[in-house]
Amino acid sequence: MKKSMANGIENDWSPIQASRSARNTINPIRRIVDRMKISPNPAKEMISLSIGDPTHYGNMLPPVEALEAILQAVQLPTSHGYPPSFGILDARKAVAQFWSRSNCQVKPENVILTSGCSHALELCFDCMADPGDNILLPRPGFSLYVTLCQSLGIETRFYDLIPDENWQVNIDHLESLIDDRTRAVLINNPSNPCGAVYTAEHLRKILLVCEQNHLPIIADEIYADMVFPGNEFHFLGMLSENVPIVSCGGIAKRFICPGWRLGWIVVHDRHNLFKDTIQPGLIDLSSRILGPSSVTQAALSHILSETPESYFDDILHQIQSNADYFYHSLLNTPGLQPIMPQGAMYMLIRINTKDFKDIESDKDFFTKLICEESISCLPASVFGIDNFFRIVLTTPTDKTEEACQRILEFYQIKNIVTNTGLSKRTTVIHQFLPEVLSRPSIREQHKQETSSYEQTHARSPTNTKFNSMHENEKRKRTSVHTFMNSYDKDQQNLIKHSKSAADLF
Ligand SMILES: Cc1ncc(COP(=O)(O)O)c(C=O)c1O
Repeated sequence: MKKSMANGIENDWSPIQASRSARNTINPIRRIVDRMKISPNPAKEMISLSIGDPTHYGNMLPPVEALEAILQAVQLPTSHGYPPSFGILDARKAVAQFWSRSNCQVKPENVILTSGCSHALELCFDCMADPGDNILLPRPGFSLYVTLCQSLGIETRFYDLIPDENWQVNIDHLESLIDDRTRAVLINNPSNPCGAVYTAEHLRKILLVCEQNHLPIIADEIYADMVFPGNEFHFLGMLSENVPIVSCGGIAKRFICPGWRLGWIVVHDRHNLFKDTIQPGLIDLSSRILGPSSVTQAALSHILSETPESYFDDILHQIQSNADYFYHSLLNTPGLQPIMPQGAMYMLIRINTKDFKDIESDKDFFTKLICEESISCLPASVFGIDNFFRIVLTTPTDKTEEACQRILEFYQIKNIVTNTGLSKRTTVIHQFLPEVLSRPSIREQHKQETSSYEQTHARSPTNTKFNSMHENEKRKRTSVHTFMNSYDKDQQNLIKHSKSAADLF
């Protein structure tokens, strides 16, 4: 029935249609999570192991050097205008310098700055494939790849990763998917959601297949260098002799500032196969949104050059401690099989549903874990693989321990294994707990470092240069404490006032 509009005119409008691209843009995480009827157990505080935002709990924050660089950048009269859409020269030089190695020099003209790594990936997909072409993606893999390809009308084909071989690529399977509409292979190393880190040998095997089939690689290297001791990160662009590579990265994860929206594409093209095609194409496409924030670009050089190694070590130490804790606590739990990551900030845990009384799938596990234990993780079906769930490893130690304990209790309730099995598992946790608990958290380490710095660097009445350095260091450390404390308060409020579990994804 027609209704009158406010001005009395009869309303014969139909709803305004969204474009095909908008209709085809689907975020698998939202699609699965939003459709589930989930409300956490009101008796238990919600703990999120699902959010891939390392700043969520406030235990991991950007380096002090980066905060200072942003504060300085915002005061510069030159950092408020439109930068070139592909980034200012200073910032592109800084990225080129950051990634240059003795055997491979990156030039600023081969760097394009983007609004985060997601934007870098979108530009690469859009530049390399037309609707109807296909791109090969990892399974399990970061869900954004599918979202972007579907939105652009690009066919997605999935090559398998092998869980029992540290999630290495099944190379034969990858090769079997290639046809004459295949435009590129996406390699994510270190990876989300698996936490896999590929050896040079494995990467060379992938390069060989791409070389034989004349396929370029889109390397998602946002977790570059985030590898646990004993593993090594290899930049695909450095290993490749003949295969052209676009490497997508950014500061979101390594520098713990995902909201600053600064990413990049580094083009490796030893034989000029991209020179007159992909490279200008990427620059043209970057002009659609006029590039990333001018303030973050102005700060980038300082962020990349001044952040000390000890900052990265602290972050990785905390991620690895969480990984160790979960791995050893769940290792002997029939029904749950954690796969130890080698880097990044995630772990996948296999669920053998036959070992549970009333768990039918990873989605069922995920729903019941929220409703009964107020723990949110992500069912790995959002990453294309069933019967696994993903946990994020950036939580503070106390939340990690509490979450792990609740998962074990949940398991105990849902499990049909005899009590003997359970007591064996509990013994394992108790053996492992003291070692993990004895490791200082980043925050504690920071306090310890500050007090030992102050003890060893007592003020000298004669050495004014030293005193000013000392004051500078103290100021940095005080500002980070103040920042952490105010962040804590905001974060507690946010968590307290989250209306439902859906707010936490
Ligand atoms: C594998 C992978 N690539 C890209 C991104 C997006 O990074 P950015 O926040 O810089 O857009 C993420 C974010 O979680 C990711 O896990």
